[in-house]
Amino acid sequence: MPTLTPIKLDEIYDRIKGQVPAVEWATMIPLVERIWQLKAEKKAVILAHNYQTPEIYYGVADFTGDSLALAQQAAKSSAEVIVMAGVHFMAETTKLLCPSTTVLIPDARAGCSLAESITGADVRKLRAQYPGVPVVTYVNTSAEVKAESDICCTSGNALKVVESLGVPRVIFIPDQYLAANVARETGVEIITHPGSCMVHEQFTPADLRELRVLHPGVTLVAHPECPPEVCDEADMSGSTAGMVDFLKRERPAKVALITECSMSDNLVSQFPETEFIRPCNLCPHMKRITLQKIVRSLETMQVPVEIDPALAARARTAVERMLAVGRQEGK
Ligand code: 13P
Ligand code: SF4
Repeated sequence: MPTLTPIKLDEIYDRIKGQVPAVEWATMIPLVERIWQLKAEKKAVILAHNYQTPEIYYGVADFTGDSLALAQQAAKSSAEVIVMAGVHFMAETTKLLCPSTTVLIPDARAGCSLAESITGADVRKLRAQYPGVPVVTYVNTSAEVKAESDICCTSGNALKVVESLGVPRVIFIPDQYLAANVARETGVEIITHPGSCMVHEQFTPADLRELRVLHPGVTLVAHPECPPEVCDEADMSGSTAGMVDFLKRERPAKVALITECSMSDNLVSQFPETEFIRPCNLCPHMKRITLQKIVRSLETMQVPVEIDPALAARARTAVERMLAVGRQEGK
């Protein structure tokens, strides 16, 4: 059975030692080793979102990224089992793209305030109210909502997806703030829904102004799930993958990522010359995924994601249309 060599464990710890004290790492080592054994045994891969904790991101993930990159990776995966270290809608998107693969979510309660804000019936109501207006749905939604949509998007291609439709008006749901940010950048009229991300809605323009006073010269990078007036105070706004690209390109001396806490934790070791100021909010859903739960998930093959076949085909079409549009440069 392949297990990690001490060298690889050392390499992992090297990436996370600023965030994980040595005593805690010592308790994690058996779990990390067990996960690598189980992955080999079950022919499984782990896809981890950028908001996962460093021990998951560097210790056990086979692929890390933003929502779009994880969906792109799922679409080309040939693994027998995929464990989603992320939230439920990401596991559902994976299952839509890999219907014959066993897709596991280590804690089925890992939800999302955006996904919970809207139902398929809400989408049908909007369609009835605005006949003929196409529905663009953020991937942070259930398969049931995706099935009622024309096309999905992530924050890495929202503008490109809206522009690809070539229409003056779209229904863009359920994130009212991403919708407002897209409306400003595209000039397309947008009808939305009062959903929001419980992490990003907490940031205020005053928070960002205070950061500039307390940390002169800081570069502020905000996620577009933040309210537009917060993005206005930032130097750049983009998906979590867009943030990484921006850091690679611009190499700021000092940066504050206006997003979930683990984002900076995972990037400090990649950008040693950058000082990370860390104002952040935790996503309680992302934090439900732990090494212990990944072990249990692989040992018991729980919790498998299943999607009602009656809506899976329609939901898959909306996700595949999004993948065909691809990522937008700089986002
Ligand atoms: P991205 O990683 O796609 O930017 O999304 C952020 C997010 O909040 C996912 O839940
Ligand atoms: Fe949902 Fe926000 Fe958490 Fe992402 S960070 S899973 S959008 S609540």
